[in-house]
Amino acid sequence: MTSCKDKFYENIKVVKNPNDTLVLVNKNNKLKDDFIPNNLIKLDLKHSNDEKYLKKEAALAFYKLSSDAKKLGYRIIVVSAYRSYTYQEKLFDYYVKEKGINYALNCSAKAGHSEHQTGLAIDVEGSNFDYDLFSESKEFVWMRDNAHKYGFILRYPKGKEDITGFKYEPWHYRYVGKEVAKNIYEKNITLEEYFEVAN
Ligand code: DAL
Ligand code: ZN
Repeated sequence: MTSCKDKFYENIKVVKNPNDTLVLVNKNNKLKDDFIPNNLIKLDLKHSNDEKYLKKEAALAFYKLSSDAKKLGYRIIVVSAYRSYTYQEKLFDYYVKEKGINYALNCSAKAGHSEHQTGLAIDVEGSNFDYDLFSESKEFVWMRDNAHKYGFILRYPKGKEDITGFKYEPWHYRYVGKEVAKNIYEKNITLEEYFEVAN
């Protein structure tokens, strides 16, 4: 495993456990271009805005989260889930063309380096119907305080950009399972820091 102290996009390792719940995918750990996660399921349209796929364990955990949130009057819907290598490549290129390379590098992973390709990551939208403004929705506060109880972590927190390599993304959550999510939440650390301590 590559240390989080390595420079971004240098000393890149190919991920050896791409189907593990605790897989680490970031600027120093990449997935193969032909990797497609096992156990992908199509999300129920009650919980997503379109045809989206996630690994079954993450999907079922999200269904529970979204249903419980709904009972409290919240709307938390998936707007991005599994993304193929090719799709991510197009997305990154789009940001480069539209906003320039520096912007793209901070907000979008290069193909192979996005954890959306693992089928364990989601972007969510609240009742203001704009994932980009998720932090301004009432759902954000609930999600921030409760997502870990369902096994999800806020993957790119504010103030941790030097560790994750990405700007703050209030809408992007990653399924890691309840136990690890609780640990990460309580210690206020990133997935990179969790592995630094564990290894
Ligand atoms: N926006 C996140 C970092 C991704 O492209 O995977
Ligand atoms: Zn995302």
